[in-house]
Amino acid sequence: MFEDVLKEKIEYVNEGLKKYLDTDEKPEVLYDAMRYSVFAGGKRIRPILCLSACELMGGNREDALPIACAIEFIHTYSLIHDDLPAMDNDDLRRGKPTNHKVYGEAIAILAGDALLNYGFEVLIQYALNSNLYTKILKATNEIAKAAGCHGMVGGQVIDLLSENKTISKDELKFMHDYKTGALIKAAVCSGAIVGGADDKTVEKLRKYADYLGLAFQIKDDLLDVLGDEKKLGKNIKSDVENGKSTFVSIFGIERSTALVSELTESANEILNEFGSRGEFLKSLTNYLAEREN
Ligand code: IPE
Ligand code: IPE
Ligand code: MG
Ligand code: MG
Ligand code: MG
Repeated sequence: MFEDVLKEKIEYVNEGLKKYLDTDEKPEVLYDAMRYSVFAGGKRIRPILCLSACELMGGNREDALPIACAIEFIHTYSLIHDDLPAMDNDDLRRGKPTNHKVYGEAIAILAGDALLNYGFEVLIQYALNSNLYTKILKATNEIAKAAGCHGMVGGQVIDLLSENKTISKDELKFMHDYKTGALIKAAVCSGAIVGGADDKTVEKLRKYADYLGLAFQIKDDLLDVLGDEKKLGKNIKSDVENGKSTFVSIFGIERSTALVSELTESANEILNEFGSRGEFLKSLTNYLAEREN
């Protein structure tokens, strides 16, 4: 049941993404490189969180779709850049050779840049053409803050600066919160905002996503050590090779596994307040804690 709903939501997101990238505009290689990474696969977790938070508020998911797609473009850019030789130097992503392995570093950098900007173009165009523009602008603000120096980019810098170092639990938590939690929180909050949430409810859901985001990255750290490369679709042992500071490197597998469960429980406790409407998000939160990719 949950799996069927999830599958349908992934298809809905993929249809949305396709429309935005179905173009024969030039330069062809740029659009090819953008499409290559966007359609390589991907769980579509952030767009699904966005749509589902909108629905949780009683909103229509169509209203959240452009926002959900924009977030996936921004997320995909972050992955292309994360894999570059200057960063994690990985050659497998979403089950395929990384963008720079196929298109070369220069085009990979530019395809990432293009996806980042296209994400914001989609958001601004949507705001300009919708009577929900105040809500869309608020959602865009969430995403802008989460993607840049106050969020993902800031976290990625800390990640690089923390290579081959022992950092404290607070520093580790901060890094995960910025590099991964921020965009997950923005996905949830932007969806809730466009679905009509008041400020208090947005903050409640931000707390939910805060727990979820940390659980998600700790699980990612665990999969890097315990995962099956085929199922995961990316290189395993990448973190050890790069001397990364992760929950696994600092707390070990057992404690990290327990933390994922604890955080998942805390996240879902918040959803209890939403009654039966929160069921899908609860199942999704559990599913992410158990995922193999
Ligand atoms: C990978 O994100 C990068 C992290 C922030 C952990 P996902 O695990 O959501 O990757 P895709 O989108 O499914 O490929
Ligand atoms: C999250 O960290 C990266 C981003 C914010 C893009 P990782 O470097 O661990 O992500 P993966 O494991 O390569 O997907
Ligand atoms: Mg990284
Ligand atoms: Mg990486
Ligand atoms: Mg990782």
